[in-house]
Amino acid sequence: SPDISVTNTQAHLNQLQSIATANGGNRYTGRPGYAASISYLKGKLDAAGYTTTVQNFSTSAGMTSNLIAEWPAGDANNVVMLGGHLDSVSNGAGINDNGSGSAGVLEAALAYAASGQSAKSRLRIGFWGAEELGLLGSKFYMNSLSSTEKNKIRVYLNFDMIGSPNPGYFVYNDNPVGNAARDELTSWYASKGIPWEYIDVQGRSDHAAFRSYGIATAGIFSGAETLKSSSQASKWGGTAGRAFDPCYHSSCDNINNINLTALDRGVDVIGHMLWLYAAKDYGTTTPPT
Ligand code: PHE
Ligand code: CA
Ligand code: ZN
Ligand code: ZN
Ligand code: ZN
Repeated sequence: SPDISVTNTQAHLNQLQSIATANGGNRYTGRPGYAASISYLKGKLDAAGYTTTVQNFSTSAGMTSNLIAEWPAGDANNVVMLGGHLDSVSNGAGINDNGSGSAGVLEAALAYAASGQSAKSRLRIGFWGAEELGLLGSKFYMNSLSSTEKNKIRVYLNFDMIGSPNPGYFVYNDNPVGNAARDELTSWYASKGIPWEYIDVQGRSDHAAFRSYGIATAGIFSGAETLKSSSQASKWGGTAGRAFDPCYHSSCDNINNINLTALDRGVDVIGHMLWLYAAKDYGTTTPPT
């Protein structure tokens, strides 16, 4: 698998922090810091050769958007998706939640474009808007697709908070339609000697809209407001009795609110899954309708 650059990922996070700082301190739905975040990612993905689409939709906080990027190769009838939400809460810059997942998916996508790999399946990446208002962007996206288009999606992998300052290494375990992607994630951690735990995040992030349609989903998470237990601190280090992210949804979720070891592991997991799924040959049978 590829070694995705944590330095480059951190550079994207620095850009998201600067965008927030220049726009009232946040990247919230309907605010200029969100629009500027979309422009930053779109510019990088366009330059790398992705086909990008900005999908606008309205919310109680104003107009906002999803950014969809597709790699123009591979079988369009077998779509593999990954993504995460790009919006922050209004309190702060949202660098761990979810600059971390956004920057990691962006950097893995840029590395893939530069790698010269040839995709067999169709790689599509979603940066969702208005997650913090109730998973609105990912729901809007799924509702925008015909059943024929939804049925082409083989898997959706979600990355929401991967650089928590007092990190844990959690793998989603809430998939009703197959666990191949989940097992690939736990095998990655096991192969690196990193202890991991399952977590049931059923309704709490953007994989939910895919999951409710019956698409296989998986994801990783380094923890939010929950306190790290003493047994978790023994296996992962960090501070027992302290939240995985004490700055969750707060103004201190800024560029200093990132554990670089967790971020590096997170981006390498994203790279592993992106390379693996882009290379999958699902065959040419017509997808079920
Ligand atoms: N989706 C939550 C938020 O953005 C965070 C979260 C991610 C919670 C993954 C559980 C699992 O605030
Ligand atoms: Ca790395
Ligand atoms: Zn959040
Ligand atoms: Zn989040
Ligand atoms: Zn593997």
